[in-house]
Amino acid sequence: MNARKVIIDCDPGIDDALALMLALASPELEILGITVVSGNVPVEKGAENALKVLDWMNHTDIPVYCGEPLPLVRDYVDAMDTHGEDGLGESAYPPITSIRPKEHAVSFLADTLRREEKVSIIALGPLTNIARLIQTAPDALSGLDEFVSMGGCYKSHGNCSPVAEYNYWCDPHAAQLVYEAFSTEPMLSGRLLHMVGLDVTRKIVLTPNLLEYIRQLDPVMGKRLADITRFYFDFHWNQEGIIGCVINDPLAVAYFIDRSLCDGFAAYTAIETEGICLGQSVVDAYRFWNKPANSYVLTETDHFSFMKFFLSRVINAQNPLSDTVLHQLVTVPCQNKPDYT
Ligand code: RIB
Ligand code: CA
Repeated sequence: MNARKVIIDCDPGIDDALALMLALASPELEILGITVVSGNVPVEKGAENALKVLDWMNHTDIPVYCGEPLPLVRDYVDAMDTHGEDGLGESAYPPITSIRPKEHAVSFLADTLRREEKVSIIALGPLTNIARLIQTAPDALSGLDEFVSMGGCYKSHGNCSPVAEYNYWCDPHAAQLVYEAFSTEPMLSGRLLHMVGLDVTRKIVLTPNLLEYIRQLDPVMGKRLADITRFYFDFHWNQEGIIGCVINDPLAVAYFIDRSLCDGFAAYTAIETEGICLGQSVVDAYRFWNKPANSYVLTETDHFSFMKFFLSRVINAQNPLSDTVLHQLVTVPCQNKPDYT
């Protein structure tokens, strides 16, 4: 089987870290590089965290590039309230000094897409780097194979406003530029941006019981995941009344590898760049605007199938995973309804 060439653009970030672990443990992928953008944490911190994950997974051979420090237009708003000051749940893992991040993610993206054939991009953060790539090197898009973006929401409520998801809310102008490019750029004609939004990622919850199962099977990985998710657990309980944490980004990686994990539909999508709905991904599911589809919007996924996919790769278990145990552990999180009283 020929591994698929990918560049992962991210803002590590706790769930980005889990997504990188999954990608690094997946033989179907040849990761040409990791590009980092300001999002959950400023780009320099994100790059440090990407290096930590590469070190944990024994993949310090993969280069990390620092990208755009600020959104295209908006003032930058981080998500350290969710991911901790260090971006990894205040787990205080020491910085990696043996390898350093390189500069200019956008140049790396352009050079790699021009040099290699059929490179895919899995974007797990705000789309600022990708927007800059389109603005400065549209010719390089000829080398793009598939594009998957964790971001947006269709029928699900947002996580930064009633309607907006963080990655597209943090840099809505970049998101709109990228979505529009899938409608207007000749090199992208007929291609779709795969939108892995909150409609599907909200169904992927890492719970205390799942974490305990991981710890029993792989104590080293169990401790590490517990260290970086504890802060995230507290945020989810306080913010949404969930016991556990929604791990958005790994689903984008899993879906890229195995499309059967999710289902959705093709539609024209635009991103609102101003007003109270700023950052909203407006999915024209019923073709009011009669525009050709530029996106494939995911609406369905199966928590059990994803968790089995994720755990079977990320943990180094002596014993095989038990479907019976996993079915018992994978339950829909207890989500409090909004309190209107
Ligand atoms: O809204 C969730 C997304 O925003 C995830 O990618 C998370 O890491 C943050 O980047
Ligand atoms: Ca992210």
